[in-house]
Amino acid sequence: MTQNTETQIDTPGLVFPTGFVWGSATSAYQIEGALTADGRGRSIWDTFVAQPGRVVEGDDASVAIDHYNRYRDDVRLMADLGLTAYRFSVSWTRIQPDGKGEVNPKGLDFYKRLVDELLSYGISPWVTLYHWDLPQALEDDGGWPSRDLSKRFADFAAIVHGALGDRVANWATVNEPWCAAFLGYSSGEHAPGRRVPAESIKAAHHLNLAHGLAVQAMRAQRADTRIGGCVNLYAISPQTDSEADRDAARRIDGVQNRFFLDAIMRGRYPQDVLDDLTPLIAPEEYIKDGDLELIAAPLDMLLINYYSRFTVTGAEGGTKSASAAPTDTGSAWPGNEHVGFVNGGRPVTGMGWEVDGGGLYEVLTRLRDEYPAIPLYISENGAAYDDVVTEDGAIHDVERQAYIDTHLRVCHQAIEAGVPLEGYFAWSLMDNFEWAWGYGKRFGLVYVDYPTQTRILKDSALWYAETIRHGGLRG
Ligand code: NOJ
Repeated sequence: MTQNTETQIDTPGLVFPTGFVWGSATSAYQIEGALTADGRGRSIWDTFVAQPGRVVEGDDASVAIDHYNRYRDDVRLMADLGLTAYRFSVSWTRIQPDGKGEVNPKGLDFYKRLVDELLSYGISPWVTLYHWDLPQALEDDGGWPSRDLSKRFADFAAIVHGALGDRVANWATVNEPWCAAFLGYSSGEHAPGRRVPAESIKAAHHLNLAHGLAVQAMRAQRADTRIGGCVNLYAISPQTDSEADRDAARRIDGVQNRFFLDAIMRGRYPQDVLDDLTPLIAPEEYIKDGDLELIAAPLDMLLINYYSRFTVTGAEGGTKSASAAPTDTGSAWPGNEHVGFVNGGRPVTGMGWEVDGGGLYEVLTRLRDEYPAIPLYISENGAAYDDVVTEDGAIHDVERQAYIDTHLRVCHQAIEAGVPLEGYFAWSLMDNFEWAWGYGKRFGLVYVDYPTQTRILKDSALWYAETIRHGGLRG
């Protein structure tokens, strides 16, 4: 992923292997709404959005896209599109309002109904256990910088898996631990909005530990469940071939990609990353004996969220954050102290993220070459653009379609090159609450008219449905 020569993509009409998983993804907080329904407890995102200046336009998720009440219609939409799988997350505070102790049966019932609805259409449910909506009560106990939370998470995993494991075959533990740790506890762009880099490193380790303990807890319940970790990986390039730029690329690759991958796939943290982080916190202050064995519990698959490439420099210049979050304070997250993010010269999405299918090829072939062989899935890939509903009531989102088309071609090329890639989930099924960006950024294949909650299939959704029917891409 830290290469200078970028891959050229050139592929004709492509059919994917039989059994390839054609999915789309969402997460609980971004779509459900109904935040006080049926005994749901308060999460860190409820607290965060209520603080002025945290979310663009002060948007909140109290209604979101009302999926809690409209899930049947939404599942019918998925069936209309021909999805073979749907990835969603479960809200911890619906199931354990305070994050520990007694289970709220009504919260679990919602997910049972959702799963049954999916299964009735032959759509395979893929559950993500943690997609950032930590119970506020657990944050009050110290949040992810507190080691104890890893065990609470394993208990929660056992509750959900115990209830749904007979009907749900595919499970992901923690979605994008990098974001949960570093945006949540260092840059403060995400809930809980803390800005203490040393604490965020502890949080990252405890999220890894939570993953490992959850795998162990679920394995103890059933042998046939397929479990994966879910990481957001980036292609990373130095701006020039200078030593400073190459070192910047090494640093960002280290903290963004290898810190998480090496832990869960190889059972160790890269020494160079630990060294980079030591000025903030010494490893022995957060890593205990035996942790890495737990973290590296064998997995059945790896889930990869891929969006873009970072081009970085070690010289003066560039911005401190590649994500350019609306609430960016310029504050660092660990590892970027000596790094600037620069424009790599590619077209960008509505998020300002560079479009680079070749970067996905680099990520996938690197996994093939450098990590233990394991089935891979793209668990998120997609783009926000400024969608316009035209007079005919349609959304001609040509750019989103092109983005997904490009990345699917890359997936096919990677499969041909021996990458064990077995499925693709478009982010996202429907427009939704894009965290600190609120509702202004639309990632959906399906457009949501927020005032009326009407769903409209964008052209990209119609095209994706056609792609699924065809089992691949035309010409
Ligand atoms: C990754 C996150 O998992 C998801 O929640 C988010 O909406 C997308 N990226 C787009 O930013």
